[in-house]
Amino acid sequence: MNDTAFPDGFLFGTATSSYQIEGAVDEGGRRPSIWDTFCRTPGRITGGDRGDVATDHYHRFGEDVALMKNLGVGAYRFSLAWPRILPDGTGDVNLEGIAFYHRLLDALEEAGIEPWATLYHWDLPQTLQDAGGWADRRIADDFRAYAEVCFREFGHRVKNWITLNEPWVVAFMGHLYGAHAPGLTDPDITYRVIHHLNLAHGRAVRAFREGGYAGRIGTTLNLYTPRAATASGADGDAADRSRDRDCRLFLNPLFGREYPARHLEAVGRSLPVEPGDREEMAEPVDFLGVHYYSEGAVRAVPVSPDHPEGFDRAPTWQDTTEMGWDIVPSGLLRQLRWIREEFGDIPLYITENGAACPDRLEEGRVRDRDRIAYLRGHLGFCRRAVGEGINLKGYFLWSFIDNFEWAHGYGKRFGLVYCDYRTRERFPKDSFYYYRDVIAGNEPVV
Ligand code: FCB
Repeated sequence: MNDTAFPDGFLFGTATSSYQIEGAVDEGGRRPSIWDTFCRTPGRITGGDRGDVATDHYHRFGEDVALMKNLGVGAYRFSLAWPRILPDGTGDVNLEGIAFYHRLLDALEEAGIEPWATLYHWDLPQTLQDAGGWADRRIADDFRAYAEVCFREFGHRVKNWITLNEPWVVAFMGHLYGAHAPGLTDPDITYRVIHHLNLAHGRAVRAFREGGYAGRIGTTLNLYTPRAATASGADGDAADRSRDRDCRLFLNPLFGREYPARHLEAVGRSLPVEPGDREEMAEPVDFLGVHYYSEGAVRAVPVSPDHPEGFDRAPTWQDTTEMGWDIVPSGLLRQLRWIREEFGDIPLYITENGAACPDRLEEGRVRDRDRIAYLRGHLGFCRRAVGEGINLKGYFLWSFIDNFEWAHGYGKRFGLVYCDYRTRERFPKDSFYYYRDVIAGNEPVV
């Protein structure tokens, strides 16, 4: 490894999720998910957008895999749609859904691209929501049963598994802030959901081990990265306290530790932990997927009902992406260092990183210099992390193609490939060629 290149074997990939790209929501035996329902609730999604057609990947996956092959990625992270595989959440397996993913896996195999399958990227079958959803402890068994179907059907060809995508977002955005499906704003439910997500994860990992499947399994977390707003010790402490809610509620159980008592006391909550849960949640994983988009500044403020933990976000000076997220490439390195310091040397992958930019298609071309600058910065800090001896094994760029960006609808474009939503035609953006050069040269091209 020279001083600018990534080590041999460093994995470059790209990522998507089922509801955001597939479309075909009522084809192939799929039944509604909570996102279908949420999108049909007036006022929830910008512009009233919904995932009914999305990028039409369900019908165009062959074209998409051909583009990925051209890009040169070694791996593709996608998610399996629970309502395509078990349309009612439990019970009968939908063979058409299974067949669809086998067709996708065939195409990937032929292209020499390693599949990384996420079991849950937010499209919970609506029938399970009607039965209580993540708020009901039974969901952990339902998730295990669903995971077992996936391992059984695809385990001979998928060797890298991810249980959950960003459980923090599921819990807080979906059950406290109401911005994501199922759109609840209930703190009691939110804390039950947190525990059930952690438990469901652990049960799926245990099922994988008990089933003796070859391959590796891990999870992905969005760990909000806080920087102390000033050099004062008080702001440093505040930044650390913010990690209780935004990182440790999910990392601690994964590593066999107690939930962060300091946070639970401050917000007056407890989690419904039963005997044996702690061991299940800590069933060892093979890797941790880290999502990094941004870093924020955190400052100490007096404790009040609005700030029960005595911290708040401070204004910053950074440029932002179209999402309004600060662009802070070095924060990626700070985050990885913190994980290593607090939790040790587990293999890490950046399983999401990328930017929404104001892309314009002009004569078939998108000159997304801003995205290229963003990627160059973040890949540079991935390389520095590796150089420091951090156990970073790979990088998945979010996203392969523009897609349905949840509550923002189609207005926010994250893709390396532009999707013209009138025709569903695909156009590789300039950043596609930038990333292709990075992969070809195995270093962050500057
Ligand atoms: C993450 C999600 C992903 C996408 C990106 C921008 O929180 O996992 O689906 O929406 O943000």
